[in-house]
Amino acid sequence: MKSARRNWQRKKRKRKKGGANWRSRIIPQGLKRPLLNKKINSSLPFSQTKNTRCHGDFPHGFYYEDKTMITASNIALSYGKRVIFQDVNIKFTPGNCYGLIGANGAGKSTFLKILAGQLEPDRGQISKGPGQRIAMLNQDQFAFDEVTVFNTVIMGHKKLYRVMAEREALYAKAEFSEEDGIRSGELEIKFGEMDGYEAEAEAAVLLSGLGIPERMRQKKMKELDGSDKVRVLLAQALFGNPGILLLDEPTNQLDLDAIRWLEDFLSHFQNTVIIVSHDRHFLNQVCTHVADIDYGKIRIYVGNYDFWYQASQLHFRQKETESKKVKAKAEELKGFIQRFSSNASKARQATSRKKLLEKLTLDDMPTSSRKYPYIVFKPERPCGDIILEINGLSKEIEGVSLFEDLNLTVNKGDKIAFVGTNSLAKTTLFQILAGELAPDKGSFRWGVTIKNAYFPKENNGYFGNGELDLIGWLRQYAPPKEDASFVRGFLGKMLFSGEEAMKKTSVLSGGERVRCMLSRMMLSGANALILDEPSNHLDLESITSLNNALIAFPEVVLFASHDHQFVATVANRIVEITPEGIIDVMMNFDEYLAMKEAALSGENIYQERQAA
Ligand SMILES: Nc1ncnc2c1ncn2[C@@H]1O[C@H](COP(=O)(O)OP(=O)(O)O)[C@@H](O)[C@H]1O
Ligand SMILES: [Mg+2]
Repeated sequence: MKSARRNWQRKKRKRKKGGANWRSRIIPQGLKRPLLNKKINSSLPFSQTKNTRCHGDFPHGFYYEDKTMITASNIALSYGKRVIFQDVNIKFTPGNCYGLIGANGAGKSTFLKILAGQLEPDRGQISKGPGQRIAMLNQDQFAFDEVTVFNTVIMGHKKLYRVMAEREALYAKAEFSEEDGIRSGELEIKFGEMDGYEAEAEAAVLLSGLGIPERMRQKKMKELDGSDKVRVLLAQALFGNPGILLLDEPTNQLDLDAIRWLEDFLSHFQNTVIIVSHDRHFLNQVCTHVADIDYGKIRIYVGNYDFWYQASQLHFRQKETESKKVKAKAEELKGFIQRFSSNASKARQATSRKKLLEKLTLDDMPTSSRKYPYIVFKPERPCGDIILEINGLSKEIEGVSLFEDLNLTVNKGDKIAFVGTNSLAKTTLFQILAGELAPDKGSFRWGVTIKNAYFPKENNGYFGNGELDLIGWLRQYAPPKEDASFVRGFLGKMLFSGEEAMKKTSVLSGGERVRCMLSRMMLSGANALILDEPSNHLDLESITSLNNALIAFPEVVLFASHDHQFVATVANRIVEITPEGIIDVMMNFDEYLAMKEAALSGENIYQERQAA
């Protein structure tokens, strides 16, 4: 580690002297993250720009000191026989935001832990600028149970928190000795240097941006529900302008508003950010680079996720063509060898071709760990004219009204996204429509031609004690006349083939369970699909496949999702459930957001006029 640091300093000195290298410290303008909404910008913590030295008169943009760079050299890690990383050499530079992507189990979380120093690799080292603070989103929801929400956020900057706590203890003393006076002077200096005086305001901005209201700030963490805890832990990671910010799936428990706020925050963040996420819209909004883990290596691409996806598809097709050529060549060689190996005059040629053949097989590319499941929903019959009528539906849970007097007519071809901050309202409505829950008041009626299939948000109840294997489990939902090979077909499409299909459901991961639930939905032949947050546990490949399947589905879809791209590309009608009733509009999600924004700014103008 020491020698790495020396190396780094040597390199830095060299760079200072050499004039030619200054360009490497300039972020090309095309790569700079766009400054989004100015209004939100003004509410961002002031200290965000502190680590950056801007020389505005540079013609090409800004000049950054590279002290927030982080470098991984020769990293290798294996678990038993399984090689996760092999010779990973990679440099993350400040001002950039890297989306770290890769298949389930490729090693994304592991790599972040290695960068953060929480996990020692088998070989290689991590080096970063001296004194640079790394902040990582804490994955343990119970780690701060006894701490208040506010203090949990401040604890993101441990040094500052220690100074703050000592300072407070000192001022709480009844008697203040001379020694205490000296100590308090020292503490005030340290406190000031670390922007302690702005800490409270900064924490407040982060918490309210992430949807934690003021009244909750003095509550203990254990009093919060899971989704609120995640928001506080996220505020903790963002707090105090860390030099290097590592976020593992930060959007998982956030609603669309909080995700938009985070996108904005990260777009203005000037230091180094590395993010793992399954949310393509989010990645596209914030990433300047994509770091792709595959074949045990990490490769960096300039550009956002969509750009990476296009480039990788092209690369994949090229590889496929290449491998077809190689196979054809190998066949040709094999043929020659067979025909002529017993022929003395051709024996030498046959031997040399044997060598060629061996070389061809040796040079075979390792296969990618990425796999795209094949998702397609085929309705048994098209929908008739009457789809679904909802009349005066009301439901309360534990004394809280979720919706009241809800009326809705679903038409042919509707793909409705249910949005709104109250996810319990959406989940409850879907449960009622799927016949799993009774409403308090009102009624609903599906048309006679309609067969619906429901994908619940929580699927524990569907797996019982986990004793069945996947084939047995899925057969429960298949027509009785069908045999095991029928369900095997659906499992195979969802990447459970051969042995995999014999696993007990009790060993399945969250993502695998979701794939089972999707197989169940695929074999139903339904013409109206109800999906509650289907992308939650899926990897990017599965989300892309599911997204494409729902775009292609010719009939009716009712769904809720926190994945912006999913909602924006599937829905042709938006229903927002608000405490005052529903907003129901025939438009796509981006049009809907634009409409809302315009309406909100109109409201502001109106208020300003009244005030004037
Ligand atoms: N302590 C461990 N022992 C053995 N295998 C592990 C351990 N931690 C992680 N793994 C395996 O390493 C792989 C990478 O895990 P992880 O980094 O969590 O993947 P992901 O890319 O999904 O975040 C997975 O196959 C996981 O099962
Ligand atoms: Mg992970």
